[in-house]
Amino acid sequence: MNDITPTREQREAALEGMGCKRKRVEDVRFTQGQGQYVDDIKLPGMVFGDFVRSPYPHARITKIDATEALKIPGVIAVLTAEDLKGVNLAWMPTLAGDVQMVLADGKVLYQNQEVAFVVAENRYIADDAIQLVEVDYEELPVLIDPFKAMDPDAPVLREDLEGKMEGAHGPRDHHNHIFKWHVGDSEETAKAFSEADVTIKEMISYHRTHPSPLETCQCVASMDKVKGELTLWGTFQAPHVIRTVASLLSTIPEHKIHVIAPDIGGGFGNKVGAYPGYICSIVASIVTGVPVKWVEDRMENLSTTSFARDYHMTTELAAKADGTVTGLKVHVLADHGGFDACADPSKWPAGFFNIVTGSYDFPTADLTVDGVYTNKAPGGVAYRCSFRVTEAAYCIERAMDVLAQKLDMDPADLRIKNFVRQDQFPYQSALGWEYDSGDYHTAMQKAMDTIGYRQLREEQKAKQEAFQRGETREIMGIGISFFTEIVGAGPSKNCDILGVAMFDSAEIRVHPTGSVISRMGTKSQGQGHETTWAQIIATEIGIPADDIMVEEGNTDTAPYGLGTYGSRSTPVAGAAIALAARKIRNKAQMIAAHMLEVSEYDLEWDVDGFQVKGNPQARKSMKEIAWAAYNAPPPNLEPGLEAVSYYDPPNMTYPFGAYFCVMDIDVDTGVAKTRRFYALDDCGTRINPMIIEGQVHGGLTEAFAIAMGQEIRYDEMGNVMGASFMDFFLPTAVETPHWETDHTVTPSPHHPIGAKGVGESPNVGGVPAFSNAVNNAFQFLGSTHIQMPHDAWRVWQAAKDLGAHD
Ligand code: CDP
Repeated sequence: MNDITPTREQREAALEGMGCKRKRVEDVRFTQGQGQYVDDIKLPGMVFGDFVRSPYPHARITKIDATEALKIPGVIAVLTAEDLKGVNLAWMPTLAGDVQMVLADGKVLYQNQEVAFVVAENRYIADDAIQLVEVDYEELPVLIDPFKAMDPDAPVLREDLEGKMEGAHGPRDHHNHIFKWHVGDSEETAKAFSEADVTIKEMISYHRTHPSPLETCQCVASMDKVKGELTLWGTFQAPHVIRTVASLLSTIPEHKIHVIAPDIGGGFGNKVGAYPGYICSIVASIVTGVPVKWVEDRMENLSTTSFARDYHMTTELAAKADGTVTGLKVHVLADHGGFDACADPSKWPAGFFNIVTGSYDFPTADLTVDGVYTNKAPGGVAYRCSFRVTEAAYCIERAMDVLAQKLDMDPADLRIKNFVRQDQFPYQSALGWEYDSGDYHTAMQKAMDTIGYRQLREEQKAKQEAFQRGETREIMGIGISFFTEIVGAGPSKNCDILGVAMFDSAEIRVHPTGSVISRMGTKSQGQGHETTWAQIIATEIGIPADDIMVEEGNTDTAPYGLGTYGSRSTPVAGAAIALAARKIRNKAQMIAAHMLEVSEYDLEWDVDGFQVKGNPQARKSMKEIAWAAYNAPPPNLEPGLEAVSYYDPPNMTYPFGAYFCVMDIDVDTGVAKTRRFYALDDCGTRINPMIIEGQVHGGLTEAFAIAMGQEIRYDEMGNVMGASFMDFFLPTAVETPHWETDHTVTPSPHHPIGAKGVGESPNVGGVPAFSNAVNNAFQFLGSTHIQMPHDAWRVWQAAKDLGAHD
């Protein structure tokens, strides 16, 4: 007996494949300060670009004079819209089919809009020069309130669109109207409402916030005029799309553009789109012939590059007296700012908002979204969510609580009564989606049992009675959120960006000694792809994850992919990885059969190699097969062991979760303390439970920030408030609650490894849980809905309005 032969379990453990809590390999460099970010790039002769920005939210520009600025030693150039017109780049297309000024062309539409680009030897000189660029503005009437955008006398914001009553998404009803999007059955829904025992109607706003990654948006553009090649390093969540767009705009052939996204310090949707900074850096490098760096500061990031949300959702539910829901009607007023720069797949002007029926079996629904222009920064990006799914989850989860209140029913019981049942999957929703899988009842029961839901309700009732008797000034709220996500954009029949179909890709190359390099079309911004992608490959082809190097972000080497956002990486690229690995395993089987002199049908896969069925001693490991693949392949089989897969998913994946938040609120100070937060997630097959837990912790922290204070506000004059971390709530470990995490596993039936995305779920599900907790606390005082964010001042004000204090 050879007792040093590892057991099957030992061989499996050595792979560190799927299901293993493998430590993040990228952290070796991050924790030692060795990450390579855009701002670490220093090229010979590199200069810096910075923007002159508008102090006014709506104004005509009558003069730009850079004479004094150009006199400062070290200032190289000052670009304006007139210069960009010479290369046809004064305006650029947005991801939403609109156009956007790169530099102000005759007028500005929001405060801090880019007016001129100063190029100087260093950033300090550029900043000094900015002060000396003279710009004359003629102020125009300002439009901030989206509800007034379509008033007959509302100021005309987009003069370039004057007279155009057709936009990228159909007819426009007003000069500030962008689109109207309708889905669902209006007649059936009206009938459901007319026959309902109970209806509710509430205007639920999801305020304007911002992804605010710690690393801001930035790039370095370097034009080699001799070779006619452009290299662009940048904080790009979708490097290949940036290359394609850069080629189309600049007419530089795509193979002569090299886009490289190095390490990225958080994206959260902020780094998907194209910004004036990128275009101006490219043009400046072409003009000056030297590399140009542009790095946003925090205020520029918060006030100009891509906000999120700003959805105002008038929501109506119809139900029978026993709580069975019979209809849903939502009208959304979507404030897109000065340009429609939403990051949504082209066919979906409101993203996947039509997942608004949530986890419930609505027989009919009717959804309309109106997008409008205002004098605010453009954006509307998917801040850690899958294209407006966060707004949808907040809308339905808040509305279900309001309905429960009207029916005098427990909100958990109302949800359970209306859940899509397990036997209904695949489930066709009233607004057009096919939910692939789910087991909502099991997840909800597990969550309720774990937190002791019924006891908490009893405690809450006792506290309310004590409050009414004047014995305490503290009230208690229990927030429930049972959300369904839709991630994995996407089937190319449904999803494209500017005509580029949303598939994804993986290339795996096994070297002769059995180590691996693998490249993907995705780009991690902190999600740990280098760790988890290797785990999928390890399980599929039996090579230890430590022997697999994962590389992303270089368009010269990676196969074409649509990048990382909206939790699409695991559902799409994760599938491509598994399928590319399976191609390699198939070829390996042919090689092993040749080596063992048997038919390939006589072989079976066993953890890390092939063995002859019924004779496990006759086996070849993947390492042995890899050597043979190059050096002794079977006759008629070409040497080498590598594969590429481009994966166009048949459907999205539908992760879900049950979140509970228990909150204690002091009505006299408005301070809300999260006593417990329990998050149960179901993301199908779990690749790395530790990374999932990290993703959930991070997303919940963002959800806490958004619900409890984070906001980009504008005053009535159009001044942007909250554009620094002094005012914009970014929670630290001090404020952040303790998280309890849990899971169930319902694999996706169409995904090769059954995995669904998870990165967005905690943001999507967390916000309604927090908001429902605050709202639930005040319900017994007669309130139905209090708008977010629930910072102490607003909570104190709500308590005052409800008569809880003077
Ligand atoms: O697209 P993005 O990477 O932001 O989101 P994701 O696909 O949800 O993946 C986030 C991280 O969680 C990645 O490292 C995934 O590999 C990991 N994950 C996992 O371990 N198991 C899942 N079922 C889903 C994601």
